[in-house]
Amino acid sequence: MLITCSSSHKMSLGQKLLRTASGNSRPLVPRVSGRSITTASLVEFGQRHVTNGLSRLTEDVIVSGEGSWVTTLSGRRLLDFSCGIGVTNLGHCHPRVSKAAADQCHTLVHGQASIGYHEPYLRLIERLLPIMPHPSLDSFFFTNSGSEAVEAALKMVRTITRKQNIISMQGAFHGRTFGAMAVTKSKTIYAHGFSPLMPGVLTAPFPYWHHFNAAPGADESELVRASLYQLELLLLQQTAPTDTAAIIIEPVLGEGGYVPAPPAFLQGLRAICDKHGLLLIIDEVQCGFGRTGRMFYIEYSGVRPDIMVTAKGLANGFPLSAVVARKELTDQLKPGTMGGTYGGNAVSCAAAVAVADVFKEEKILDNVNARSAELFEALISVKADPAIGRHILDVRGQGLMVAIEFASPSHSTFDPAVKKSTPANMAARVSKRCLEKGLLLLTTSVYETVRFIPPLNVSPEDLAKGIEIVKEAVEEIVHE
Ligand SMILES: Cc1ncc(COP(=O)(O)O)c(C=O)c1O
Repeated sequence: MLITCSSSHKMSLGQKLLRTASGNSRPLVPRVSGRSITTASLVEFGQRHVTNGLSRLTEDVIVSGEGSWVTTLSGRRLLDFSCGIGVTNLGHCHPRVSKAAADQCHTLVHGQASIGYHEPYLRLIERLLPIMPHPSLDSFFFTNSGSEAVEAALKMVRTITRKQNIISMQGAFHGRTFGAMAVTKSKTIYAHGFSPLMPGVLTAPFPYWHHFNAAPGADESELVRASLYQLELLLLQQTAPTDTAAIIIEPVLGEGGYVPAPPAFLQGLRAICDKHGLLLIIDEVQCGFGRTGRMFYIEYSGVRPDIMVTAKGLANGFPLSAVVARKELTDQLKPGTMGGTYGGNAVSCAAAVAVADVFKEEKILDNVNARSAELFEALISVKADPAIGRHILDVRGQGLMVAIEFASPSHSTFDPAVKKSTPANMAARVSKRCLEKGLLLLTTSVYETVRFIPPLNVSPEDLAKGIEIVKEAVEEIVHE
């Protein structure tokens, strides 16, 4: 492999790295702006030096993003229905958000929250207070990632209740750090080989038909009833309420398959928490901040969270997460036990203030609901097509957090969703074909599921383009 930095100076990547390692001052990474640097040379460099512990949708190099589109070093423009896993919800480099961050960079970058207050931190709380799903949520602190916010919430419930056990839901994803990993139940890969995990975690079923070995379209109220019944049994047989601090739930399973919890289930959880003296942690890291057509999905149920965590779309790509609770709870925390060096970074907070303003001014939720109706209409008509619809088990979601679940020929033979005649690995193949056709579309869950996470301000035209690509991809694959 040759890296041609200039026509007069050609050497292999290996030679280049050796020279750098031996003290040469040339940069280790080939410069992206160099005219003749190829994507292949950068990719080879990445493959050698970026850890294998990360997965990737594409081996291309993304160099810029604008709105619903990204451009790669090889010159491709890709329509982004991944939003960097539900983060760039106002599109890439929204001008208001980028300007707010750039301006803040010239004023104060690191206003350490344990040294003093800084204005963007407080302005952000001012913006968030009126949009909280319940007025009792009035005490905030900011961290850097979803996992960090989940860790903080787990610590909070243990110290506040002085009880240890935590109940999480089958199919949940809460992150990759130790506490978050322990309450993650979406795929074994996240915990495999990393034991011992945080102890004291129990798992209850989520009302998703797969979890009951039921068929797609199973009666929702029956799934809710059975899930709540199992939870009550758990509290009778495995973890006494007096040992149990909290229930943590993603109200829309993300990594578990884009399955929204029926409001009746969330109301049932609240009632069980109240009856037994447990706290309820609502993880809105992925489904929060407008993704489902309301600012927070929990609003559909009217349920009051004791603690809510949110991240991702909060700052549209700047690292920021929030832990929110009622003051009466957070007053029980000892100063210094929460937070961290970078949590509530001034640039991220300034960006998040701009995000909150854009939401109002550009009526983002109206767009989510209008585009969601178009997306569902289109996907339901794909499912109704007899040639391909027989391979689709489910179209589900809320707002612009939407999934298609394909049939699988290979899950348990007892699974009523198994269809032996269906093509194998549909989700990964559809995702790959979409990429070839210019669309970033992610898979999710242990089932054959692809997920749509377009920007919340996606235009009707771009949404239609993306849907057309997915439709073509599915048609091609089922006819192969
Ligand atoms: C619901 C949920 N909780 C927590 C996390 C962890 O967030 P992070 O990857 O920022 O640590 C994620 C990430 O995808 C998530 O979707």
